[in-house]
Amino acid sequence: MTANPLVAIRNVSKKFAGVTALSDVSFEIKRGEIHALMGENGAGKSTLIKILCGVHKATRGSIALDGAEIVFDGPQDAEKGGIRTVFQELNIVPQLSVAENISLGSLPLKSGLVDRKKMLERAADALSGLGADLPLEARAGDLPRSSQQLIEIARALMGEARLLILDEPTASLGENESRQLLSIVTGLARRGVAILYVTHRMHEVEAIADRVSVLRDGKFIETLNAPMDEAIIVERMIGRPASSLYQHSRREPGRELLVVSGLGSATLRDVSMTVRAGEVVGVAGLLGCGKSDLARACFGLHPVQDGGIKLDGEQIARPSPAGMLERGLVYYPSDRRTEGLVLGRPLFESMTMGSHRPARITRKGFLRTQKEYELAHSIAEELDLRPMQLDRTSGKFSGGNQQKAVLARGRMRTAKVHLFDEPTVGIDVGAKADVYRLIDNYADAGHGVVVISSDLTEIIGVSDRVYVMREGRIAAHLTGADITEENIARSFFAAAPA
Ligand SMILES: Nc1ncnc2c1ncn2[C@@H]1O[C@H](COP(=O)(O)OP(=O)(O)O)[C@@H](O)[C@H]1O
Ligand SMILES: [Mg+2]
Repeated sequence: MTANPLVAIRNVSKKFAGVTALSDVSFEIKRGEIHALMGENGAGKSTLIKILCGVHKATRGSIALDGAEIVFDGPQDAEKGGIRTVFQELNIVPQLSVAENISLGSLPLKSGLVDRKKMLERAADALSGLGADLPLEARAGDLPRSSQQLIEIARALMGEARLLILDEPTASLGENESRQLLSIVTGLARRGVAILYVTHRMHEVEAIADRVSVLRDGKFIETLNAPMDEAIIVERMIGRPASSLYQHSRREPGRELLVVSGLGSATLRDVSMTVRAGEVVGVAGLLGCGKSDLARACFGLHPVQDGGIKLDGEQIARPSPAGMLERGLVYYPSDRRTEGLVLGRPLFESMTMGSHRPARITRKGFLRTQKEYELAHSIAEELDLRPMQLDRTSGKFSGGNQQKAVLARGRMRTAKVHLFDEPTVGIDVGAKADVYRLIDNYADAGHGVVVISSDLTEIIGVSDRVYVMREGRIAAHLTGADITEENIARSFFAAAPA
């Protein structure tokens, strides 16, 4: 029995020129626990991590590992102490193979040369220890980001790891990849590796974290134990009640702007939905229930066999993204990295283009008129985009700010109807509040808004009416006081016998 925590952070402060990133932060990490670290962007999470892994030196305070105070002179010292880190920005050498990337920093040598056989064996062991299966000789740069992340984790675990630090590991992963990562994380914790885990995804924290520590404005607020209460965590992060995240004005809905009737496709069964001017319609449902395909079908990205779509009174025979944008229907995909943004191009372009066929527009040198740039700038200001440098490439912005840029598209054209698919997934609470404000403002301006989300709190916070989908069908339609978490969740599953 050891009484000492694995890591004790004591009164740690960090000042950069003019900026206090951390002030007087103290908390502990226990052996083998999954410890989430949460806070708005700029709260100091990454700075704390960089101090723990020896990249930065604390201005004040101390860190004890296993009861002994430690001073790291660099990341190597932290690694020797068993502290391993996977940063937000991945460190993959794209030209090297998977096995070589895993072995970076610990290449096995034989008479001065790399022992390839041993390297491959070790890499294979490391991956299978994670339950991951990657082609060892493939070029790392050719693999998806989720695989590159596994490479980094495998590399981090090459030595003896006691604490694995993950800074927003699922930020750019899809739903299934995130699940795989979470199960790897829980597996490691079961083997006794402590995990310090930064994420903005509340359901991940609820699912796997033993404890969560919250930072706000560089200060330590509290460490909370599982089971997690989302409202309390959000309140600690933003410093005011969680309900204040949502803005929801009273409105009288107007004419029908989007009428979907009897839609049938490979995944949709007789789906009907109406969206009126000045209302926010929520669509809830579990993964795979068809709610994303519903939005994609309306935008012409998901082929349908039956049913009809009417936009502002006009029957649309064959919806196409270009045609729907033209008519004022804007779709905001959930996966901003594959459908929403062009990461290598300036953010400005992602704000102004349609969410389809970006090449067509960019080849023509793009519609970069001064007027458009000015409009983008004023919208960015309204959304509190940071940093306010629209010429920076999209990939250099945080997830929350990338999301704001995608969402800004509806402002750049004459929109009537907005279809948001998981508009706040993976973004920090501050950016969430901005997104909710944007959604409410659209409805106030007489637009029709659809919010598809698997976050029930979000659905309830933003919606005037709610459809619940199950197995491709509309399972329930809730209005007014019937919009409760319990009613929605009940409709997720087979209807109770009457
Ligand atoms: N190298 C640095 N130089 C100056 N300021 C920094 C540096 N790194 C972080 N900061 C500032 O410290 C604060 C905390 O940042 P960070 O630790 O990255 O927050 P988080 O990871 O929670 O978003 C922010 O105000 C940020 O601008
Ligand atoms: Mg960070």
